[in-house]
Amino acid sequence: MDIILLGPPGAGKGTQAKRLEQTRGMVQLSTGDMLRAARKAGTPVGLQVRAVMDRGELVSDAIVSALIGEHLDDASGGAIFDGYPRTRHQAEALEVLLGERGRNLSHVIELVVDEDALVERICGRFTCANCGAPYHDTAKTPKVEGVCDDCGGTEFKRRPDDNEETVRKRMEEYRAKTAPILPFYEEQGLVRQVDGMGSVEEVAAAIDAVLDA
Ligand code: AP5
Repeated sequence: MDIILLGPPGAGKGTQAKRLEQTRGMVQLSTGDMLRAARKAGTPVGLQVRAVMDRGELVSDAIVSALIGEHLDDASGGAIFDGYPRTRHQAEALEVLLGERGRNLSHVIELVVDEDALVERICGRFTCANCGAPYHDTAKTPKVEGVCDDCGGTEFKRRPDDNEETVRKRMEEYRAKTAPILPFYEEQGLVRQVDGMGSVEEVAAAIDAVLDA
């Protein structure tokens, strides 16, 4: 099963993708995480995308589609595309990449959310520096303060693009370039809407209901 989680910044794509990895043995393919890893490693791609990401703009289609092409076979048991595709060009590139492997999408899950609430969500976000488990200052704190639930790590980090000005720019990019790819998938009968404003558990249950239908 290959699925896309689609929604604006802070909609909960990463949170739900990580849960699906744990419950279904699928593999999260997050272009945002891949780009941040490239930045951290100081690769040529990482250096090239740094300023674009910090402005909240989209990096080039060629770069992200190449990253997905490199990692797609890591997810032969089922991929969760998180933050990809984000443009019509990327959606078409994904069709080619999957088609070459005899695979196709089973669902495009659109997380429907209230954008104003997302700014608060994003600005309260932090992750485990060791395993990447996602947390939030109020909505999802570690069970034991300062200790990651998943790996026991004690260091946490926040993203440089998680400030209000950049978040607003990222939302603008979503409205202008990503939301317009929905009709491409609606024509194929793949889109299912899920209310992304419930609790993490409620959203998870709604996604499960779609995948098990
Ligand atoms: P990327 O890393 O993909 O960021 P994004 O799409 O902006 O999404 P986020 O990671 O901010 O949000 P999310 O939906 O995963 O929410 P999360 O689960 O963390 O992209 C970053 C940048 O990389 C882009 O701006 C661009 O420059 C570049 N890029 C990446 N992919 C690209 C592509 N394909 N093409 C071009 N450029 C690309 O949740 C957010 C917070 O809310 C967390 O704290 C979480 O704990 C909390 N939370 C989650 N669910 C709930 C809930 N139900 N209730 C309450 N709180 C919740």
